[in-house]
Amino acid sequence: MYSRIAGTGSYLPEKILTNADLEKIVDTTDEWIRTRTGISQRHIAVEGETTTDLAEHAARNAMAAAGVTAEEIDLVCVGTTTPDLVFPNVGTLLQDRLNIHGCPAFSLEAACASFLYALGVADKFVRLGDAKCALVVGAETLTRLVDWSDRGTCVLFADGAGAVVLKPAEEPGIISTHLHADGKYKDLLLYPDGVSLGFNLVRAGKAGVRMKGNEVYKVAVNTLGQLVTETLSAKGIDKSQLDWLIPHQANIRIIEAIAKRLDLPMERVIVTIETHGNTSAASVPLALDAGVRDGRIKRGQLLLLEAFGGGFTWGSALVRY
Ligand code: COA
Repeated sequence: MYSRIAGTGSYLPEKILTNADLEKIVDTTDEWIRTRTGISQRHIAVEGETTTDLAEHAARNAMAAAGVTAEEIDLVCVGTTTPDLVFPNVGTLLQDRLNIHGCPAFSLEAACASFLYALGVADKFVRLGDAKCALVVGAETLTRLVDWSDRGTCVLFADGAGAVVLKPAEEPGIISTHLHADGKYKDLLLYPDGVSLGFNLVRAGKAGVRMKGNEVYKVAVNTLGQLVTETLSAKGIDKSQLDWLIPHQANIRIIEAIAKRLDLPMERVIVTIETHGNTSAASVPLALDAGVRDGRIKRGQLLLLEAFGGGFTWGSALVRY
């Protein structure tokens, strides 16, 4: 038994923040942001607009694309680092919005790799016969964690959501998923406050994403390079067989480095970073849905999804769409 992607969906909040807008907030330029990151604009959740709001739109779009109703969903798994509440979890809040009752619903947190983690977990539920229709979401309001006085990070992050519906299949579908983490890198990219630390930095107005950008960059390129090699060699697939790379959208230079490693021309990479920015857990399913909806990604094609995030956490999926 395998799982297959029956439908995809996504959603971006309406409010757009351009590089020109950021020039008014911090000492930066449109030219610096575009050349160093590939980002021109990003979507931002307005006050009161939550991760569950974004997840609900993406989920409904994916369910419509898959042709499934709420009654059919028997697993809700949301990857996110920016939950609305400490609890109930976003999976449960989303389940309620969709009027689904009784099935397992949870969120899991692996920073920007959260969607790949959620996909890996949900795939196993379906493969084992424990779910017949799984809703898997990556949703994030990461700009809520941003320190808007830190030009090294505030230009990167954005909000959004993407979703897929997984159904059982006799042929893959999801061929394999590969999940990894190494907490020794915890100090390179983090939000240094939280529940059990008492939110003291938040209270003092000193919280915000902290990142050693240069070091993150180097480890990301190296780790993702090894990850794509591992993903292909696990099933004896040659890189020439790949139709699309659907990478985490953190930095265009990281994306180009991984495409090069795979000998893939950029025409076979789904790139959304210019208009989406880094939406963390939402970035891969947003890019997947963009490629599906504009007709580039077709049924039967071979896709490699990958992501890398704080922890560090990283993960990939090889998918026959
Ligand atoms: N505008 C203008 N200048 C900026 C700036 C901004 N928004 N942010 C940083 N700078 C400055 C720095 O202060 C530094 O100035 P200095 O040389 O006077 O000290 C200079 O630009 C170079 O900074 P550096 O950090 O070396 O730039 P970089 O080429 O490494 O690019 C990142 C910075 C963040 C774009 C890049 O390191 C990166 O993308 N890292 C990976 C981040 C990532 O992917 N994070 C998410 C993982 S999920």
